[in-house]
Amino acid sequence: MMPKIHPSILCADHGNLLAEVTKLEKLGVAYFHIDVMDGNFVPNFGCGTEIVKMIRRNSNVPLDVHLMVQNPQNHIKQFCELGADIITIHHEAEFLNTNIMQTLAAIRKKGVVPGIAINPATTVDEVRHLLPLCGHVLAMTVVPGFGGQTFMENTVEKLRELGELAQEHGFSLCVDGGVDAKRVGELMPIGVTNFVMGNALFKNDYAEVFGQCARF
Ligand code: DX5
Ligand code: ZN
Repeated sequence: MMPKIHPSILCADHGNLLAEVTKLEKLGVAYFHIDVMDGNFVPNFGCGTEIVKMIRRNSNVPLDVHLMVQNPQNHIKQFCELGADIITIHHEAEFLNTNIMQTLAAIRKKGVVPGIAINPATTVDEVRHLLPLCGHVLAMTVVPGFGGQTFMENTVEKLRELGELAQEHGFSLCVDGGVDAKRVGELMPIGVTNFVMGNALFKNDYAEVFGQCARF
């Protein structure tokens, strides 16, 4: 199976965003990954609704919205209506203890794939009960907040375990943070199917990196 590549729009050249989107769509990327940050759950700001609107208007590539926000339940309706295809919420977000299950169900009810994102320090045991409710699992391989960080090797054991659970439950397993073409080759055999790529793609020749991934 071909790896599914999700370019991280946060790392694109925002002065030429439309051209970037068009070029990537032609290459055949699976999704656009949109990092939404609230300056609170993570110490940074990311993409917002205007970027989602612009991309949705100009491209047919499905949108994978990664909500790095403290209260994602307040924003589900808005991102569903803007045309998100996957909405991922963080297990570590503040609201979680009370209504993560309802929020995942609310996403599904809108016809959007519900995803759970887990930070490098979060264990599989902490999220095991949620996996049957998810269509997508986003395993962070850096501490979220910024593009351009180094992939954390100590997440690989967890990815192996999630790879087996992905088969069992049928969710797509995606990695996010410091992923390059070499990692794609290394992680596909353990069951990772989807790959967010920021700097590895945008700081290089897209077509070349995309071609390397397609050969695995
Ligand atoms: C990190 C974001 C990532 C990031 C990926 O907080 O969730 O999507 O932009 O960028 P790279 O691939 O450069 O780590
Ligand atoms: Zn992300």
